[in-house]
Amino acid sequence: MTNSPFAPDCLKGRTALVTGGGSGIGFAIAQALAGAGAQVVVASRKADRVAEAANVINAIGGRAMGVVADVREPEAVQAAVANAVDTFGGLDILVANAAGNFVVPFADMSFNAWRTVIDIDLHGTFHCAKAAYPYLKASSYGGRFIAITTMRALEGWPGCAHAAAAKAGVMSLIRSLAVEWGPDGILCNTIAPGPIGGTEGVKRLYEEAGQSTGVPLGRLGRGEDIAQAALYLCSDASRFVTGTDLVVDGGRQRGQRGGE
Ligand code: HXC
Ligand code: NAP
Repeated sequence: MTNSPFAPDCLKGRTALVTGGGSGIGFAIAQALAGAGAQVVVASRKADRVAEAANVINAIGGRAMGVVADVREPEAVQAAVANAVDTFGGLDILVANAAGNFVVPFADMSFNAWRTVIDIDLHGTFHCAKAAYPYLKASSYGGRFIAITTMRALEGWPGCAHAAAAKAGVMSLIRSLAVEWGPDGILCNTIAPGPIGGTEGVKRLYEEAGQSTGVPLGRLGRGEDIAQAALYLCSDASRFVTGTDLVVDGGRQRGQRGGE
């Protein structure tokens, strides 16, 4: 588990589902939520990946389960949520983290390339929201719906027009849900990470593409930096926070604007 200033039982009794929770940022979030006492369901396409992630969490004293689901398929997401509810008795937190992305100039982007990224990132988040809503509404702790986005979606993102459009759509969706679901006690927020070292995202979008990360704090982010933000948004400390984008990027977006 990651070192955390949050109490180790601050999420005790709650159940969380993290899509794409078997690798990268999602795995860091899953570990942190488990370390704070939550029961965690890790869901993605690869059975080995989610099983291994759950094993790692269980081996260090957490309570986790891996579930295979492709977020592009509404029935699969519904089944994953039902599995979480059957196993742990409810669903209090959903972190829509699963995503697909690759660098391709717009002129070379096929219709299916566009559709694939929109399907995973935007439709996948929609499917999560639809499936989780009745359970988040019933949560005695107050439900939490968090989506992982990026401020690059709002900046103009050359080579990633598909992901930019999808993530901007997710940010808009979350704002609408925050308003619609406020009366149900469900808090809806996004976390916008900067470049996080050791992840597939940084490998594809910065290392292979030869782009500079430009982080004023002078280092790449770590998975645990994002996991701590997720802990905050899941904990009672954020009880009056909804409809916001929590930017956790070491100042990258400010550097972008100030440096041009
Ligand atoms: C051009 C590409 C491509 C590439 C795929 N396609 N990769 N086009 N350049 N590098 C095209 C294919 O040719 C195909 O179109 C269509 O996209 C679908 O590809 P498939 O391989 O059939 O899709 P699928 O098997 O469903 O895999 C989805 C995927 C894959 C998104 C393409 O890369 C994946 O599974 N990614 C998950 C992991 C990931 O992306 N992690 C990074 C997240 S980072 P045609 O026309 O040929 O049929 C992130 C943001 C980070 O989200 C933010 C800042 C750092
Ligand atoms: P990653 O390790 O590749 O994470 C993506 C996860 O999503 C994988 O576990 C993958 O598992 C899962 N996934 C992909 N397609 C799926 C699908 N159709 N259905 C279900 N699960 C699917 O990449 P990451 O860099 O940690 O990214 C995690 C999140 O952070 C993404 O939302 C990304 O946009 C965001 N983000 C990342 C950075 C960064 O610096 N890395 C910066 C800003 C935002 P399977 O292959 O098993 O399905």
